[in-house]
Amino acid sequence: MLDIKITKTAAPKAKPADESKLGFGKVFTDHMFIMDYNAGQGWHDPRIVPYGPLSLDPSAVVFHYAQECFEGMKAYRTAENKIQLFRPECNARRMNNTHERLCIPQLPEEDFVQAVKAIVEVEKDWVPHSEGASLYIRPYTIATMAQLGVHASTSYKFIIICSPSGAYYAAGLAPIDIYVEDTYVRACPGGTGFTKCGGNYAVSLLAGQKAEKKGYSQVLWLDSQERKYVEEVGAMNIFFKIGGKLYTAAAEDRDGTVLPGVTRRSIIELLRDWGYEVIEGKLAIDDIMKASREGKLEEVFGSGTAAVVSPVKKLDYEDQSAFINDGEIGPLTQKLYDTMTGMQWGKLPDTKGWIVPVCKG
Ligand code: COI
Repeated sequence: MLDIKITKTAAPKAKPADESKLGFGKVFTDHMFIMDYNAGQGWHDPRIVPYGPLSLDPSAVVFHYAQECFEGMKAYRTAENKIQLFRPECNARRMNNTHERLCIPQLPEEDFVQAVKAIVEVEKDWVPHSEGASLYIRPYTIATMAQLGVHASTSYKFIIICSPSGAYYAAGLAPIDIYVEDTYVRACPGGTGFTKCGGNYAVSLLAGQKAEKKGYSQVLWLDSQERKYVEEVGAMNIFFKIGGKLYTAAAEDRDGTVLPGVTRRSIIELLRDWGYEVIEGKLAIDDIMKASREGKLEEVFGSGTAAVVSPVKKLDYEDQSAFINDGEIGPLTQKLYDTMTGMQWGKLPDTKGWIVPVCKG
């Protein structure tokens, strides 16, 4: 159990007046959680302090060798004015899997969850009130040791910042267009694809920019070895409904090239509960385009904490296009969105035991 010291700001900021204009990750709350690590003391000095710049040595390992990682979670305000989290222990576990891959010391999972609850409680007035908006929570770890040798740091900071946010995509739940990237790759076997390290996102930027210039919201990554099998989309996992069955790339917790999304895992559990067959494995882009030509590509949607469930209306691959469900949200996509957000915002009963209460709002 952490003994968290809380220092409140003397100058709280005004809360956003119009929650419909929040966007994603642009506004930050008044406080942040910080905890330090060094080899002698382990994780120590957990504290909540006013949000503000960090002071780091310019030679800190994080700046040079990118030894860092992050998580993405949300806090929701229910109609009864309760503040709650969705499966925070899954983020704690995934963060430790990432830590292991990046030679960062393990962080006790109960301490991670306690820290998230503590900062959310301090910032409870920042949890949005309007439908679809939530407090996005960004825990992250950075390597702080001052050294230029390529070695794991022996000191770290674990930090949590919070951002009241609306929909991840400007278009909200409107279906998006996706560009299938056939040149650049995101991850390769034996690499860091399954982790949430910033490097995975840095290498995605060029393809993302290229796609955005052509009017697409995101790129769909193919496997690095054959450029044949679908993996994931920029900020989400992705599902394809073909001939009544659901397909998504396999995502191993401790290996592999695809991020094991918490929303992805939850959706798979819901779909199986509802009697759908879900295949986690290799799905070739050629088979998806063929299914589209044959009228069997019924629905495509992304899943992620930030994006929740995000319908796709068009996939462009080389010179072919797959148009999905006449540009409308598919019925299963809508049902998944309604069920996930219903549980998260407390409008539906938590039949799966996924909700973790934090405090009264
Ligand atoms: C999330 O969905 O929380 C993510 O981390 C994706 C992203 C915004 C990088």
